[in-house]
Amino acid sequence: MTNEALISTHNICTYFTKRTNKPSVKTDPLSTKLKNSLIKTKETIYAVDGVDLTIKQGETLGLIGESGCGKSTLGRTIIRLLNPTSGTITFQNNDISSLNQRELRPIRRDMQMIFQDPYASLNPRMTVGATLAEPLKIHKLVSSQQECHQRVRHLIDQVGLPKDTLTKYPHEFSGGQRQRISIARALAVKPSFIICDEPTSALDVSVQAQIINLLMDLQKQEHLTYLFISHDLDVIEHICNRVAIMYLGKIVECNTAEQLYSSPKHPYTKALFSAIPSLDKETRHKRILLSGDIPSPAHPPSGCAFHPRCPVENKSDSCFNEVPSLKQIGDTGQVSCHHEGD
Ligand SMILES: Nc1ncnc2c1ncn2[C@@H]1O[C@H](COP(=O)(O)OP(=O)(O)O)[C@@H](O)[C@H]1O
Ligand SMILES: [Mg+2]
Repeated sequence: MTNEALISTHNICTYFTKRTNKPSVKTDPLSTKLKNSLIKTKETIYAVDGVDLTIKQGETLGLIGESGCGKSTLGRTIIRLLNPTSGTITFQNNDISSLNQRELRPIRRDMQMIFQDPYASLNPRMTVGATLAEPLKIHKLVSSQQECHQRVRHLIDQVGLPKDTLTKYPHEFSGGQRQRISIARALAVKPSFIICDEPTSALDVSVQAQIINLLMDLQKQEHLTYLFISHDLDVIEHICNRVAIMYLGKIVECNTAEQLYSSPKHPYTKALFSAIPSLDKETRHKRILLSGDIPSPAHPPSGCAFHPRCPVENKSDSCFNEVPSLKQIGDTGQVSCHHEGD
C-alpha cells in the first residue's frame, strides 16, 4: 500500500427521483379533475449526500453501514455505473465525473465490481469459457483465439476452479463456485480497482472464508485496490487497511482499521461496534442499543442526520440544525460529530 490516492471523491451526491401517486386530500375543484383523485408527486431520495472519500493505491478500504444507507449507490457512482448528481470523482489524477460513455470506455476496464449475487450477474445461457472470453474480446486484450484460450485457462486456474469449468453453465455450480467465476470475469480485463459489494453475504459461512482468502491472495498477485462493502464487522477488520462508516448517505467516520476498532469516535460507530462479541473485554464498550430505524433517505433529519437516534446526552442546537462536517482527528482519522472530543 502507498499513500498515493487512486480514487478520491469530493462532495459527491447521487440523488434518485421517485414518482409516487398520492391520493388527493384536497377538496378544491382542480383535484376533482385528476384521474382517480391521485396526485403525482416527485420525491427525491438522497442516497449519497456529500461524500468525501479517498481510496489509496493498493489498499482495501472497508465500507460499513446499515442496509439502505447508500453503500452500493456510492460504489456504483465511483465507477460511473451511475451518474453523480453533483461533486467530483478523481481516478488516477483524472476527473472522471463528467466523462461520456465513449470517454469512459478505457476506464471501465480498469474499474470492476463484484456483486453479492453472482447468479444474477452471470449470463445463464453462456458457458463459463464464453463468459470469460467476452470481456477479453470487447477490450481487445487478446490478438488470437489461442491467446484467448490461454488467458481464460489461466484465469480459471487463478480462482481455483478446474479446467472443465469452462464448458459448463452457471447453474451447474454452487454459490461459492459461481462467485469464483465472477471474480475471474472481473480479473480478466486486468483492472487496478475492484469494488466488492457484499461478495460473501449470500454464501454459506464455510465458503465465505475461502472467498475472502482468494480475494486477498489475488490482491497481492495482481496489485489490486479494493473497496470492500460489507456489514460483517469481523470480516472488515480482518481484511481492511482503513474503514469508512456510512450513515444515511454520508460518511460519518473513517480511520485505519486498528484505530477505528480500538477507539471509535462517532456515537454511531460506537453503537455498531459495541455489538461485536469478539472484541476483547478491554476495548469492548457497554452495548449501546440504538432506538428507532434508520430514517428514510427521502426525508433525512435536519442538522446531524443521526440526531434522532443519537445516544449522546445534552445535545446542542447544532446537532439539530447544522450538518456536521468531517473533521480530521489524529493523523489518520476523520469524524463528523459536533460533540467529538467532549
Ligand atoms: N435505482 C434506484 N432508484 C431509486 N432509488 C434507489 C435506486 N437505487 C437505490 N435506491 C435507494 O437509495 C437508497 C440507498 O440504496 P443502496 O445504495 O442500495 O443502499 P445499501 O447498498 O447501503 O443497502 C435506498 O433508499 C434505495 O432504496
Ligand atoms: Mg447494497
